[in-house]
Amino acid sequence: MKLTIIGTGYVGLVTGTCFAEMGNNVYCVDNNLEKIANLKNNILPIYEPNLASLVKSNQEKGDLIFTGDLKEALDSSNVIFIAVGTPEKEDGSVNLDYVYNVALEIAEVISHDSLIVIKSTVPVGTAFKVKELIESNLDKDIKIDIASNPEFLKEGVAIDDCMHPDRVIIGAQNDEVFDTLKELYSSFIVNSDRFVLMDVKSAEMSKYVANALLATKISFMNEIANICEKVGANVKNVRLGIGSDKRIGYDFIYAGCGYGGSCFPKDVKGLINTAADNGYEPKILANVDEVNENQKLVLVNKIVDRFGEDLSGLTFAIWGLSFKPQTDDVRCAPSLVIASEIIERGGKIQAYDPKATDNFQQNFDSENIVYENSKYDVLNDADALVLITEWKEFRALDLDELAKRLNQKIIFDGRNIYSPKIRKAGFELYQIGC
Ligand code: UDX
Repeated sequence: MKLTIIGTGYVGLVTGTCFAEMGNNVYCVDNNLEKIANLKNNILPIYEPNLASLVKSNQEKGDLIFTGDLKEALDSSNVIFIAVGTPEKEDGSVNLDYVYNVALEIAEVISHDSLIVIKSTVPVGTAFKVKELIESNLDKDIKIDIASNPEFLKEGVAIDDCMHPDRVIIGAQNDEVFDTLKELYSSFIVNSDRFVLMDVKSAEMSKYVANALLATKISFMNEIANICEKVGANVKNVRLGIGSDKRIGYDFIYAGCGYGGSCFPKDVKGLINTAADNGYEPKILANVDEVNENQKLVLVNKIVDRFGEDLSGLTFAIWGLSFKPQTDDVRCAPSLVIASEIIERGGKIQAYDPKATDNFQQNFDSENIVYENSKYDVLNDADALVLITEWKEFRALDLDELAKRLNQKIIFDGRNIYSPKIRKAGFELYQIGC
């Protein structure tokens, strides 16, 4: 098939590349011409495992074309995906300016009947507004079909998620659209049970509900972790105790120092706003977000309990700055809050992350933090190690190296990855809910 993907951010770039890998002819369009020039030279705006090699090989075989020229792309496509950002506004509502601007641009240059597919995460009803906006600005007799096809990509494993989806949700108004999109996705899906076909609004809603429910599981478990600490129970054991019940499951019930990323925080707030706009005040969702914000402070509170409110004269080694492993993304990352709370109390920071240091530096302005290129260099003369992101390289601890480099054998483990056995080697270990 011949496709256009508008927006070469995380979702657009991964989706477009995967469609090209399956033999479709894909135009990836962006109005940021510097980004397009870089992509043409295989310079990617994000780090995502395996993406760079797929971009390169599909450009070489001519199936992946990066361009700033929307008309050129639309002239040779029948299916157009909108995958531009829908950032959070200051009041927590969703900023749809990029989506609506794209709709106006499409109306200006489109030359034949087309299917417009909304991939961006948008509040319920947006797809119909996009259709209306295009139709009311067309000066030709062109048929526009609309579909909602939300993405469920996890950063760090996005290629695999895209190529082997749990499900493909298609929200549409007629069978022709369902058939077109089923055909497109059939190279990723062998089992047709994985197609979930529905009306457009339910598809839009499904995306928010998936993220909100996953965020709710995490906040719920973080709250349980905080109760566990009070009563002397261990949340890791409690997870094992409940996860085998298929109705609960083991996933997304890991307690930690809070969730981050571009989706959970934004989508929980987005759903709260959609509800409010429609006259409903959601109580559970409001607390999911609040519990998460407080959870980002739990590790800081443990540091203060151990060292006192005044952290001046103390240095903290931070392992992990990204919001989760396998990504360089620091959006809404707990590290931003934890680092600033330590520095506000007079502490100094030595930080290391395998991929996210540059992004963190761009989002965090302080003279009291230095960045190192190795996990051991940050430990030198530090008074404690603070583990925030559970990158694989942090899992196996060389206790001798730690003891040699740290001033004090103290570890704050924000992801519960270390065994309490290290206490036998004289380490103080502080975890979440254990
Ligand atoms: C999420 C959804 O999983 C994905 O389907 C959607 O398309 C986009 O949003 P992502 O933001 O990439 O993906 O990360 P995810 O792996 O879901 O983790 C989100 C956050 O939750 C991370 O900060 C992670 O550390 C945290 N988390 C996850 C926990 O604290 N505990 C858990 O048990 C699981």
